[in-house]
Amino acid sequence: MAWEAVADLDQLEEGDMMLVDMGEPICVVRLYEDEAVAVHNTCTHQQQPLNEGYLQEDDSLICPAHNSRFDLHSGIPTGVPAVDPIPVYACKIEDGAIWVDVEQQLNDAAIPHKPFH
Ligand code: FES
Repeated sequence: MAWEAVADLDQLEEGDMMLVDMGEPICVVRLYEDEAVAVHNTCTHQQQPLNEGYLQEDDSLICPAHNSRFDLHSGIPTGVPAVDPIPVYACKIEDGAIWVDVEQQLNDAAIPHKPFH
């Protein structure tokens, strides 16, 4: 797999996020008009889905289960209880769509376990 269009721009407005199945569950977040990010959808604390979390103004995402906070550019947890980073993937906006390449992981985070539910 390489670059894959996961959404038209009009499907995902600024501040919105969506879950995409790319073999791994991927959370795509449109941060700004011209910027989107893609991270693994699984919280590294107790494997809950991050796409139901809360986007913050500093481009971090808070897990809805126990409030772990992850920087969406680096994947690094910036708020406990999570201590391990989430994988971050190559993501771009081009030709009116959001593209993700899950073969291009941008950090060295381990792939989290899939959600148990
Ligand atoms: S599962 Fe995300 S903070 Fe616990």
